[in-house]
Amino acid sequence: MTQLPGLLDTEAIRKDFPLLDRVVHDGKKIVYLDNAATSQKPRQVLDALNAYYERYNANVHRGVHVLAEEATALYEGARDKVAAFINAPSRDEVIFTKNASESLNLVANMLGWADEPYRVDRETEIVISEMEHHSNIVPWQLLSQRTGAKLKWFGLTDDGRLDLSNIDEIITEKTKIVSFTLVSNLLGTVNPVETIIRRAQEVGALVCIDASQAAPHMVLDVQALQADFVAFTGHKMCGPTGIGVLWGRQELLEDLPPFLGGGEMIETVSMHSSTYAPAPHKFEAGTPPIAQAVGLGAAVDYLSSIGMENIAAHEHAITEYAVQRLLEVPDLRIIGPSTAEDRGATISFTLGDIHPHDVGQVLDEQGIAVRVGHHCARPVCLRYGIPATTRASFYLYSTPGEVDALVEGLEHVRNFFG
Ligand code: ALA
Repeated sequence: MTQLPGLLDTEAIRKDFPLLDRVVHDGKKIVYLDNAATSQKPRQVLDALNAYYERYNANVHRGVHVLAEEATALYEGARDKVAAFINAPSRDEVIFTKNASESLNLVANMLGWADEPYRVDRETEIVISEMEHHSNIVPWQLLSQRTGAKLKWFGLTDDGRLDLSNIDEIITEKTKIVSFTLVSNLLGTVNPVETIIRRAQEVGALVCIDASQAAPHMVLDVQALQADFVAFTGHKMCGPTGIGVLWGRQELLEDLPPFLGGGEMIETVSMHSSTYAPAPHKFEAGTPPIAQAVGLGAAVDYLSSIGMENIAAHEHAITEYAVQRLLEVPDLRIIGPSTAEDRGATISFTLGDIHPHDVGQVLDEQGIAVRVGHHCARPVCLRYGIPATTRASFYLYSTPGEVDALVEGLEHVRNFFG
């Protein structure tokens, strides 16, 4: 078995993930390489979800009975865990949403309804990048269409990095918000956050970071990042689906208006007007995803028990090995950085003229799960003149043997298509 420096004890870790024992297609053990789409869940998270529904289920913040109090303590306890995980200065800066898309839409709508000094209008500019997931493009297009604000973006270099050569022309005195991804879900690129934030701060623009592909894989310290908003999702970091997070700086959350109205986000309501609860509740209208938050809390505990530095080191070793092995496959072209430096554990590629959907299908027949398509980042495919890619993405339980299986699987694909 290939040994690489920095690897975690995957034999032990994999025992925590029941799904990794799945057998598919008449006896093939699953090789799960679609972690950028969603991660598998450890037993610790499944147990926490079960225990919540079996013993504590009640609505939160509403009841005086014991179950309501216990459910509220578990839900708010999950907020404490997430706040500690991202080193938030205050637990009140952690808003639970449905997913990262909702978190990003929430920021766009807070600004969309805001007065000065946050007001976005036809005199102002919004900055994103060409490597964004659709969830960090479309909300800003909608905001720009509604307000008349100009939408601008950083382009991409040939090797899959942000082109910051014209950063001073892209981020100007008119820029109100700069929203970009920390790690690309298609290219795997890790972006130079500091350079972008420094320029945004020079012109007084707010910064929103999509950390969906970062939070599961590396230490995420919102104080060190110095952004104003950070969005991510639970299901890519061993948590359940249906739970996302928006972290925002306290004074912004106090100043900015709510987006969704309803129960629990108010202080008082009359038939004429309402006043709002303080953050985070101001942004959590209605019954929240309680069990999902509890599951995310358990996921955060699980990841912390292994250590995010250790997970990052493991993934770096796997990625370095995968890049090296994939480049040995004839006709394979990596779309994105072709070294393991400044890249996450997500590798997109094309294989000669073989359509990625065909690649994905032949790999699937061998029990290897990858994602194919434009990965909800179609502008990246347009930039590189390709309709789609095949994407392999790794996590804390991925092994060098699975990289070898992928490379062998790709040999089958090449033989199959002649
Ligand atoms: N955002 C997820 C992905 O990139 C679904 O696959």
